[in-house]
Amino acid sequence: SSKVNEQNHLEIGGVDAAELASKYGTPLYIYDVALIRERARSFKHTFEKLGVKAQVAYASKAFSSVAMFQLVEEEGLSLDVVSGGELYTAVTAGFPADRIHFHGNNKSRAELEMAIKLNIGCVVVDNFREIELIKEIAAQEKTTVPVLLRVTPGVEAHTHDYITTGQEDSKFGFDLQNGQVERAMESVLSSDAFDLLGYHCHIGSQIFDATGFVLAAEKIFTKVTYWKETFQYEPKVVNLGGGFGIRYTEEDEPMPATYYVEKIVESIKQQVKESGIAMPEIWIEPGRSLVGDAGTTIYSIGSEKVVPNVRKYVSVDGGMSDNIRPALYQAKYEAALANRMNDPKDDSVSIAGKCCESGDMLIWDLPLPQANPDDLLAVFCTGAYGYSMANNYNRIPRPPVVFAENGEAQLVIKRETYQDLVALDLPLKSKVSQC
Ligand code: LLP
Repeated sequence: SSKVNEQNHLEIGGVDAAELASKYGTPLYIYDVALIRERARSFKHTFEKLGVKAQVAYASKAFSSVAMFQLVEEEGLSLDVVSGGELYTAVTAGFPADRIHFHGNNKSRAELEMAIKLNIGCVVVDNFREIELIKEIAAQEKTTVPVLLRVTPGVEAHTHDYITTGQEDSKFGFDLQNGQVERAMESVLSSDAFDLLGYHCHIGSQIFDATGFVLAAEKIFTKVTYWKETFQYEPKVVNLGGGFGIRYTEEDEPMPATYYVEKIVESIKQQVKESGIAMPEIWIEPGRSLVGDAGTTIYSIGSEKVVPNVRKYVSVDGGMSDNIRPALYQAKYEAALANRMNDPKDDSVSIAGKCCESGDMLIWDLPLPQANPDDLLAVFCTGAYGYSMANNYNRIPRPPVVFAENGEAQLVIKRETYQDLVALDLPLKSKVSQC
């Protein structure tokens, strides 16, 4: 719930963004907590309305922090982690282990040991080496590990469309088409190291069309009857991953995220009927659609350069170090002056980051009021894959994160300091006394 207040300033979660910028400095990420809660609840309510047992796991790669994980736990969602670091953050946040799902195509022995010792909710098994590792660790820990098998259904979504190939060329999962899933099931079902809960697939990210999800579910269900006959096995869970698209700019026309859920459930109900198995739980893993539009980055305007008859570059005090998406994916964003929201947009500028490379451009040809140094630029929809992909290129400290809700703001990640930047560095042996 962001709006413009009487001072003509951007307000997020009932808090003046310009006030937050002066209190915490810029760049600054601000999250609208009520919006995250609203998104979380609407996923859960949609499943309840459809009468389907479900788990909604927040794909924490979109934005992970202790406070974020605590918010996810408050809202009763599960958590998808993909590394020991995300798992450790979940543990630090006191997140219930039985609602954690562990993903990844190359989990290390140490990571799997950590997860299994914590008794996490499930490991999403990606490959044959992982099956062997889990067998060893389960024997050593005298335990059984709940698992999903990650299946590669041969459906790939590309935002506006999708392609299906018999043999999807992907680093993830067991291929559906060439017997890999059957080989994995043989291993898993014949060992008491595993409790096979069911199947998982994930077809992509920032998807606008429900067809891809439906096709992926259909591809899995074409095999379910065969697997039932061959292995006397029926899935208790089908997890269709994340990927529900959001609106970054007017070029994007996603459906509300719950629409995709409805289509998925509709299709699975139909498939279940046809295949004669019991209705499984349906799990999903949204990341972007839970936090993307809840996040805004506030920058201070700095220098400018005019290339006559071409364009005006206006620089901000961050860039690809806090939002690598424009440089990496040509991602587009909308922005406004946070301290002069309703001023007429009589200028057109290109927003440059401060990193030492020409590719560090955040937005091209943005309509904006005539901006002056120290005006504040708000870039919208930076809540997903912004902080989580931030880096220290050019030794720029990562910005802080503030949560705003009901007119109150709370710092949830501190700004990195210059001391933090050198904290892991060790001096040359001969210079130790100088540091
Ligand atoms: N589940 C799995 C297995 C995934 O690999 C992903 C995202 C998700 C769930 C969550 O997808 P979402 O709902 O957030 O679309 N860095 C890229 C996005 C990479 C997504 C990777 N996997 C970006 O900034 O656009």
